Amino acid sequence: MSTADVLVEALPYIRRFAGRTVVVKYGGNALAGTSDHDALALFAEDIVLMHTVGIRPVVVHGGGPQINELLSRLGIESRFENGLRVTDAATMDVVRMVLNGQVNPQIVSAVNTHGNIAVGLSGEDARILQAAPRDPSLGFVGDVARVRPELIESVLADGFVPVISTVGVDGSGQAYNINADTAAGAIAEALSAEKIVYLTDIAGLRRVVDDPSSLIQRTTVGELEALVADGTVAGGMIPKVESCIQAVRGGVRSAHILDGRIAHVLLLELFTDEGVGTMITGGPQ
Ligand code: ARG
Repeated sequence: MSTADVLVEALPYIRRFAGRTVVVKYGGNALAGTSDHDALALFAEDIVLMHTVGIRPVVVHGGGPQINELLSRLGIESRFENGLRVTDAATMDVVRMVLNGQVNPQIVSAVNTHGNIAVGLSGEDARILQAAPRDPSLGFVGDVARVRPELIESVLADGFVPVISTVGVDGSGQAYNINADTAAGAIAEALSAEKIVYLTDIAGLRRVVDDPSSLIQRTTVGELEALVADGTVAGGMIPKVESCIQAVRGGVRSAHILDGRIAHVLLLELFTDEGVGTMITGGPQ
C-alpha cells in the first residue's frame, strides 16, 4: 500500500473520532525494565497525534512492577492472600509514592516532550475514584464504588490530556490501591467514551492461545462471555476482558485489547480498517 493510501484510509477515522473521548490503559509492565523509554516515547507520540487530530485521549495507568521494586528496595515484605497482595498502611504509602510520584510524572513528561498538553492527576483528586474495600483481609485493596468524571471533563474541555493514577479514596479520606484495568473501564464508562483501549503484553485475544494466526480481530460482548464461559479466555486476561464487557455494556462504543509492544499500535488500530488487535463491540447478549 502506498503512503497516500494509508493516509486516505485514516481520513474517515480522523473525522469520525474527532471530539470523541478515548481512554487508554497503559500498563506498568510496559514501563518496567530498561529499553522501555523507547516504547514510552512511541506511546507518547501516538497520544499527541491523537490529540492533534481532535481526539480527547485520557490515559489511565497502574504500576505493579514499579511498586514491587520499591517495596523490595525498602525491605517491606508482602503477605499474599489468594494471589492478591495484602495492602497494609506502609504498603499503601509505597503504592501512592510510586504511582503519583514516579509512574505518573514519567508518562506526563514523555507526552510533554511533544507538546505541553499532559496533566497528571491522581484518582484521589476531586475524588475521581471513590473506593470501597474489597475484602477486609486484603487491607487497602479497593474496588471502584463510583467515578466522579467532572475534573477529567474540565481538563479535557481545556484541551489538555489527563493522565490518571489508579489510587482511590473512600469517604473518610483513606487511600486504596485499585486494579488499573477495572478503574480504566469504569472511567471510560463514566465519560461515555467512544473507546476503551487496553495496552497489554499479549497480541490481542486468541482462539488458540499458542497460535498467533487465531487472533480474534473482532468480537461482541455476547461472544466474549461465551469464550470466558468455555475457558478460551482464562487467567490474567479475565479482569481485562470483564472490564471490556462491562464498559461496552455501559455504553462505551468499543473496547480494544492491543499488544503495547507493537510500535505505534494505537495509530495502527485507530486509523486503519483492519486494526492490529481485538476489537469488542456490543451485540449478541
Ligand atoms: N480503526 C477502526 C476503529 O478503531 C477499526 C479497527 C478495527 N480493529 C480490529 N481489531 N478489528 O474503530
